[in-house]
Amino acid sequence: MEDFEGLLCTHWGHWSELEMRRLPRVALQAGQVRLRVRHAGVGHALSLLVAGKYQRKPPLPFTPGTEVAGEIIEVAPDVDHLAPGQRVMAALDWGGYAEEAVVTAATVYPVPDVVALAHAAALPITSGTVWAALSWRARLEPGETLLVHGAAGALGSAAVQIGRLMGARVVATASTAAKREAALRLGAEQALPADGQILPGAFKDAYPAGADVVFDPVGGDLFDASLRCAGQGARLLTVGYASGRIPQVPANILLVKNLSVMGFNYGQYIGWGLHDERQRHAPRVREAMDAVLAAVVTGAMLPPAITQYRFEHWREAVDATMSRRAIGKVILDL
Ligand SMILES: NC(=O)c1ccc[n+]([C@@H]2O[C@H](COP(=O)([O-])OP(=O)(O)OC[C@H]3O[C@@H](n4cnc5c(N)ncnc54)[C@H](OP(=O)(O)O)[C@@H]3O)[C@@H](O)[C@H]2O)c1
Repeated sequence: MEDFEGLLCTHWGHWSELEMRRLPRVALQAGQVRLRVRHAGVGHALSLLVAGKYQRKPPLPFTPGTEVAGEIIEVAPDVDHLAPGQRVMAALDWGGYAEEAVVTAATVYPVPDVVALAHAAALPITSGTVWAALSWRARLEPGETLLVHGAAGALGSAAVQIGRLMGARVVATASTAAKREAALRLGAEQALPADGQILPGAFKDAYPAGADVVFDPVGGDLFDASLRCAGQGARLLTVGYASGRIPQVPANILLVKNLSVMGFNYGQYIGWGLHDERQRHAPRVREAMDAVLAAVVTGAMLPPAITQYRFEHWREAVDATMSRRAIGKVILDL
């Protein structure tokens, strides 16, 4: 196949202005791998990225999409640990919303046969972020109480599952009864309404000692409420602002309760930082991927929660993510 179908961003604007086009195949450079994309994850950052407001700006025109699973079509001559035909998942700089994608070998991970590729597409960035934030950054310990916001969303549902896997007692927050039920099915022991006014009282009634770790991909009022839910010495992970409001941190509360607020940016580990550090971090990221895959293979963890859409219905898929309707990770089937 000399050309293939994919979504193209030709100018900075609204995500609905993306266009489905025939795209030309380009030659591989050293260290690269060409994939047949079978599934691609839809991320919340898409709207910022195509508006030119994200922390990184790809050169126009470009195809968005950073998290995929599929098979390897071709590897560059210097890539010796991967081979055509292998089932893999990958974290990309961009280019995932297309039938073919080119990716650096450092962020391509083999997928065991028993793991469906549709589920694997929710692992490289979504589960990677959660594993790294809880393990490397917050150092979550068995028996600790973990409060997870947006617990039926992509990161949040993974945080419920991985928090449980790490031995924590997980308390979820979500905005609807259906979302709270989804969080309970994934292993949360309690699911509370995502209401910043009600949450601190409800949480402290059930957990008087407070949360040890908070995983917050939502920000806004829920971040403020987290400061009140936090126990002495708690660690608060700020990983995203799906609510649209970036919270401010009152330092006096940190002092009184011995709290640590921890920022976490997974992009730093997969080559999206100011300096490209993907090679340096590749062994550590690979270990995290192996741990998550092993948990799915052994049944210690359910496969990631996903909602699937056919590629031609990409507008509905993106809209479900942006309008807060989606449960789990939204996946495009190519
Ligand atoms: N730091 C990192 O390395 C990293 C990595 C990946 C993603 N992120 C960021 O993390 C955030 C969450 O990503 P995600 O993939 O988990 O998104 P998602 O699947 O859309 O989930 C976000 C959750 O936020 C809640 N929410 C509250 N107000 C919302 C609003 N106005 N619109 C949409 N959702 C709202 C929703 O839960 P309720 O309805 O239950 O309130 C929703 O389920 C995004 O900002 C994303 O860019 C950060």
